[in-house]
Amino acid sequence: MAETASGISVGHWLRQHPQLVRIDLELSLCYVLDCSRAHLLGHADSILSIGQLKQLQDWTDQLHAGIPFAYLCGKQEFWGLELAVDASVLIPRPDTETVVEQALACLPNQSQVAANGVRPRLLDLGTGSGAIALALATERKDVEIHACDISAPSLALARANSEALQLPVHFHHSDWFDSIDGRFDIVVANPPYIDPADPHLAALHAEPSHALIAQERGLADLRKICCDAARHLHLHGWLVLEHGYDQGAAVRALLAANGFSAPQTRRDLGGNERVSWGQKGAHDAQLTHG
Ligand SMILES: C[S@@+](CC[C@H](N)C(=O)[O-])C[C@H]1O[C@@H](n2cnc3c(N)ncnc32)[C@H](O)[C@@H]1O
Repeated sequence: MAETASGISVGHWLRQHPQLVRIDLELSLCYVLDCSRAHLLGHADSILSIGQLKQLQDWTDQLHAGIPFAYLCGKQEFWGLELAVDASVLIPRPDTETVVEQALACLPNQSQVAANGVRPRLLDLGTGSGAIALALATERKDVEIHACDISAPSLALARANSEALQLPVHFHHSDWFDSIDGRFDIVVANPPYIDPADPHLAALHAEPSHALIAQERGLADLRKICCDAARHLHLHGWLVLEHGYDQGAAVRALLAANGFSAPQTRRDLGGNERVSWGQKGAHDAQLTHG
């Protein structure tokens, strides 16, 4: 039986919510109408049913309350992959693709790996939805990828994403390196790095604080990872870290202070310093190789 028409068109509904982000409204409509954005924009005069209008009203109430669209629809795209997300994980950001790009640049290429006959080992610390680990797994089947998180619900979601995408990753429930064995060729992390006093936190209230906030003006987890990483890296292994737009100099200093040679920083698409990295050097190797 046909659903009762509400008399409200797609275009009219869009104009009723000028305070909300337009793309969130369009994606809400696409989800409820089960259509593409191109189709939606070409059919602005389509009439919504009463049922569709009710669901849209529920979502706009939540958007007004600051719930991100990704939590409403339960998914987010990252590196071309569709990842399931829920309120236990940070919604993966486009800026974090800079970590993936830098990790790919640090890894030996496929012919070097084939010639060497040994799969490089990579660890993603604080994997959340699995975004970084899964993006790397889709690019490099010849790399053994491990990922950890301190949050059991995050880890369950990351595992589910790994299974749904059929991208194998070894998952570990671990407080940073505490339950991680063996050494790696590359360690990547997007740890919490927001200062508890940062006024931007208010806008992120729907996302888990364990994914966002770090003490010491946002540097506590970055410092801990920099201090411990060398013991878990092979000689000449890489540590690649995402950080806040104003933390580049501090993270380069942390890398240098912990024996990583020539720390460098890469900017994100917005032009902000976003990812810093360094290579475990020979000096550090004398200190940490047993
Ligand atoms: C900024 S989120 C990054 C999530 C994901 N890697 C991404 O880029 O979208 C930080 C992640 O670190 C995890 N985390 C926080 N403290 C941790 C700890 N002590 N040990 C392991 N993971 C931790 C959080 O649960 C969260 O998933």
